[in-house]
Amino acid sequence: MISRRTATSLVSAGMLALFTALGAAAASAEEIVIKFSHVVAPNTPKGKAADKFKELAEKYTDGKVKVEVYPNSQLYKDKEELEALQLGAVQMLAPSLAKFGPLGIKQFEVFDLPFLFKDYDALHKVTYGEAGAEMLKLLEAKGITGLAYWDNGFKVMSANSPLHTPDDFLGLKMRIQSSKVLEAEMNALGAVPQVMAFSEVYQALQTGVVDGTENPPSNMFTQKMHEVQKNATISNHGYLGYAVIVNKKFWDDLPADVRGELEKALKEATEYGNGIARAENEAALKAMIDSGKTEFIELTAEERQAWVDAMKPVYEESAERIGADLIAKIQAAANGG
Ligand code: LMR
Repeated sequence: MISRRTATSLVSAGMLALFTALGAAAASAEEIVIKFSHVVAPNTPKGKAADKFKELAEKYTDGKVKVEVYPNSQLYKDKEELEALQLGAVQMLAPSLAKFGPLGIKQFEVFDLPFLFKDYDALHKVTYGEAGAEMLKLLEAKGITGLAYWDNGFKVMSANSPLHTPDDFLGLKMRIQSSKVLEAEMNALGAVPQVMAFSEVYQALQTGVVDGTENPPSNMFTQKMHEVQKNATISNHGYLGYAVIVNKKFWDDLPADVRGELEKALKEATEYGNGIARAENEAALKAMIDSGKTEFIELTAEERQAWVDAMKPVYEESAERIGADLIAKIQAAANGG
């Protein structure tokens, strides 16, 4: 015989167990939401890769994960989005490698060095290789996990006057991303660099707050910058690409099977995005040329050499900031194997 008191406590224990089980079931049925914020248009290499990740992540997790993609700085601008990621207000981003300096990670600015990569193949030796993986690990100290590199492309220089030689840059106000290497690049050309959020560039060009800028054709075209820039030079003088990053705590706390599916989705989205980046940029360049709004210049061999020579001092200056060893390592990786 059990006493009434024991019976009561058994019933309460049973109810507690039931509630706990119900609670756990509700929690496991709860959707995991990934807010993925970015600053470019959806029809760019990054925009398309983000949308592909959403599609695959939701498919592979059977809807357990919902990815909300916010393009065009809808949620946050450049600097804010990194802060938001650290605070956990968004879970995923793909900022340009030129934008990690303000976070205290200067090393990614190595990717901004002028004429560092001769083509996508050279770049991929770094971004798919050991050197690239080591750099992503630097983010851990900031509460961020780096998962992959996404390509955009090689930059054109634009302004409202023709840019044939370094002399043509003298005194021009040029918008740059927040990278000291890019600042050194514009200084080396005799221009006046001005750091500005991506979302503000079109208006700044339109109103003459700045005279020109640099960007891969896909960004220039989708932001309609060609409508407010009379001239551009297909200089391919530098590369712009991204690190795909997540809030470390969020990522580590995910159930292992879910994280595995997301990793698979990201790997495939990366292959897709990096597979279309070059063609996207070529198509954007062609569309701008066809529009006739901007006159595009191709450099002669001598003109190109003058650009290379003018920007050479950037390497020495940047070595002080990001390390001569790192520069040598990335150069070796890009040129080797
Ligand atoms: C820029 O600010 O020019 C680029 O970083 C924008 C982007 O994300 O491609």
